[in-house]
Amino acid sequence: MADRTFAEAGADLELVGIHKRFPGFTAIEDLDLVIPAGSFFALLGPSGCGKTTTLRLVAGLEQPTAGRILIGGKDVTNVKSFKRPVNTVFQSYALFPHMTVLENVAFGLRRRRIDNPLVKAHEALRLVELDHLASRRPQQLSGGQQQRVALARAIVNRPALLLLDEPLGALDLKLRRQMQSELKTIQDEVGLTFLHVTHDQEEAMTMADTVAVMNKGEIEQMGAPEELYELPKTAFVANFLGQSNLFTGKVTSSSGNSIVVDVAGVKIEVPKDRAQRHTGDVTIGVRPEKLMLTTEAPKPTPGRNVLGPGRVMDVSFSGVSTQYLIAIPGIGPVSVFAQNMVFGPVVHEGAEVWVSWTVDHGFGLVDEPEAAPRFAPDADTAAIATQTRKDLLTEIEEA
Ligand SMILES: Nc1ncnc2c1ncn2[C@@H]1O[C@H](COP(=O)(O)OP(=O)(O)O)[C@@H](O)[C@H]1O
Ligand SMILES: [Mg+2]
Repeated sequence: MADRTFAEAGADLELVGIHKRFPGFTAIEDLDLVIPAGSFFALLGPSGCGKTTTLRLVAGLEQPTAGRILIGGKDVTNVKSFKRPVNTVFQSYALFPHMTVLENVAFGLRRRRIDNPLVKAHEALRLVELDHLASRRPQQLSGGQQQRVALARAIVNRPALLLLDEPLGALDLKLRRQMQSELKTIQDEVGLTFLHVTHDQEEAMTMADTVAVMNKGEIEQMGAPEELYELPKTAFVANFLGQSNLFTGKVTSSSGNSIVVDVAGVKIEVPKDRAQRHTGDVTIGVRPEKLMLTTEAPKPTPGRNVLGPGRVMDVSFSGVSTQYLIAIPGIGPVSVFAQNMVFGPVVHEGAEVWVSWTVDHGFGLVDEPEAAPRFAPDADTAAIATQTRKDLLTEIEEA
């Protein structure tokens, strides 16, 4: 049950045909978005894709060049920032150093002459489990605790909509993971609408009910985390949200429930209902953990795709799993994630292997092959793995 102390109910947010042009630069291009009341919505994308601009538009800190913003069904496009039922939590939480934690949280209430500011501030601090530290100063708290105070300071205003702009960005990884689950619990408890912006794909997937992947001012794909992960529709989504093995080729036949794509002479089958395009040159893909590695050629089986033989180029052991990079002549490097079922890796560098997967696990993208993955990797994200793959590709091509 949602705790209605902090809001009558979350309100839904609707962006209709939003454009935002800065002098000489279009940051948002025709953005349409509906976020249902009470949901935890994540806007995920690399640096510079327009996430903060979107939040600033919703908060009323920027005016859209075109389009409308509705909160709880009410058009707030021309409503001043402080009159919108919205609060924002930033990465730099900027608490007042000379005030106690309690006074920091009560500050906004006092300014707006709300009754019983201290009682309400204590309630908000209890929610973030920091009431016992109410009389401390911010610098006597850890980074994670300070961020929770910032959250209490936003929630105490009972906004219908809480905007979070990379609020965990300044925390170290472990604390970040812990705060992610706390934030999610708090959102469940208060029932507010959360619009959370991040460039961390794991953060978006673990916390949000709905994730919208943003690229260059546009939403490329939106849906439940599992849905986006299992069926990416564009190369950008396939690589920004986790990793993917992508292949390009021509559709040679289309029969029954699947299309057959010729990738450098190898026939790969993809289910029609998982492929965005059914004719011509296409890009298809499969996730690394869906691949099976064998040291002998698998017997041709209906419903299974096989690539190989190839050679193991790299083995990186990460504890719970091992990532293998397999060079397949004519096709390039293929990445395989294997769970560690035995002690250590099962094959070693230089070994001859085949990879195979269930046809049902493949997907086909909307992208024209020549427009395939071309985006500036964000150094802060898991794009490091993609980077390694690129280096490898260069190596193979040079050899
Ligand atoms: N006031 C501004 N004037 C000009 N360009 C801006 C302004 N604010 C943001 N931008 C540009 O808009 C793009 C999106 O920025 P931003 O929304 O901050 O991205 P993100 O939060 O996704 O990293 C960036 O290229 C940025 O340089
Ligand atoms: Mg930003």
